[in-house]
Amino acid sequence: MTITQRILVTGGAGYIGTHTCVELLNAGYHVTVMDNFCNSKPEALKRVERITGKVIHCMEADIRNRAAVAQALVQSKATAVIHFAGLKAVGESATAPLAYYDNNVVGTLRLLEAMDECGVNTLVFSSSATVYGNPERLPFQETHRLLPTNPYGRTKLHIECMLRDLQASRPQWRIAILRYFNPVGAHPSGLIGEDPRGVPNNLMPFLSQVAVGRRNHLNIFGRDYSTPDGTGIRDYIHVTDLAIGHLRALEHLDKTTSSHTAGQCLELNLGTGKGHSVLDLVQAFKLASGRPIPYQFKARRAGDIAEFYADPTLASQLLGWAPTMNLQQICEDSWRWQRMNPDGYRSA
Ligand code: NAD
Ligand code: UD1
Repeated sequence: MTITQRILVTGGAGYIGTHTCVELLNAGYHVTVMDNFCNSKPEALKRVERITGKVIHCMEADIRNRAAVAQALVQSKATAVIHFAGLKAVGESATAPLAYYDNNVVGTLRLLEAMDECGVNTLVFSSSATVYGNPERLPFQETHRLLPTNPYGRTKLHIECMLRDLQASRPQWRIAILRYFNPVGAHPSGLIGEDPRGVPNNLMPFLSQVAVGRRNHLNIFGRDYSTPDGTGIRDYIHVTDLAIGHLRALEHLDKTTSSHTAGQCLELNLGTGKGHSVLDLVQAFKLASGRPIPYQFKARRAGDIAEFYADPTLASQLLGWAPTMNLQQICEDSWRWQRMNPDGYRSA
């Protein structure tokens, strides 16, 4: 790794961004964050500084502001960008699709224009396993058909296409498209974690809020799937394992740059390859927290799929990356974050 590498992290104050900043700073990278704080708080970056004892340069700006992005690239002397900034709520994307296309697709377009203008052509992009849609076969391999079933997923697919087209026209570009499965857990310090606004849509934050007493019970959506216990199965990956995947991807792109091989646009699954049911999570969380987790079975949630998990072989072969944390460790870390910060960053 080039120890002096300088990275611009868009959306670095968010859930996955903060965990990635910790790993980048610990590995010796200089980090500049660009975030408009539409779904995060400056306090999260202060916590990253507390964990690492290092300084983060932060620019409060919107990625759709091309001039601001160019200024951040020049001022930070960035050699690469990790691009997290975007909106991510599936349900909201169906009621406000234009906001999603504007923020995610137009935002990425402006970012790429600014990078091109400034001669920065190494990018790691946060895509999602949502781009696959309903599984034709499991586990999902990167070659699986791409047919997302909601506007959020389609914004990710449009961005992926844009990146592939850009790379085909500019051989010097090096791009890693990372398709995340279900990121969960929190930094073991308990200082940073997922802090959703309002009622959480996703299982893990909802479960944590039940355990800490902020919500009465968990609704389990569906008990009649053709899975061993009838509840939905997902591939839950610890956010720190995911964060480390970004460092391995950067190192890989860096290697291809220094060996003067042609640029590339890689697509890689970041998941564990193992599926766990909703009831598995409830059980593991109960054990981790020592708290009761009351739950009620409800009808299936519209748009949900019975089973969804990754084949992570390609990331393992190309990046030498493999997740290290199991479901129990994930729940213990989620619980520590929730217990220390019952109201998220507002608890500070
Ligand atoms: P998050 O909402 O916690 O973080 C996103 C950050 O981007 C926030 O700090 C937000 O303020 C910022 N942001 C949003 N729009 C911006 C804009 N126009 N300009 C500047 N900053 C902006 O989300 P996360 O969970 O950390 O996800 C990060 C990325 O990973 C997103 O692109 C998301 O779509 C993708 N992803 C997330 C998941 C997941 O389950 N968390 C799964 C797959 C993919
Ligand atoms: C959701 C998104 C997906 C996104 C992912 C990020 C939908 C349809 N899909 O996926 O695009 O990439 O989050 O992590 O929103 N569950 C309950 N009770 C709850 C919440 C969830 O039983 O209160 C169940 C769900 O039915 C599912 C499992 O828990 O079986 C996981 O749900 P969730 O955390 O929302 O993730 P995904 O549905 O995989």
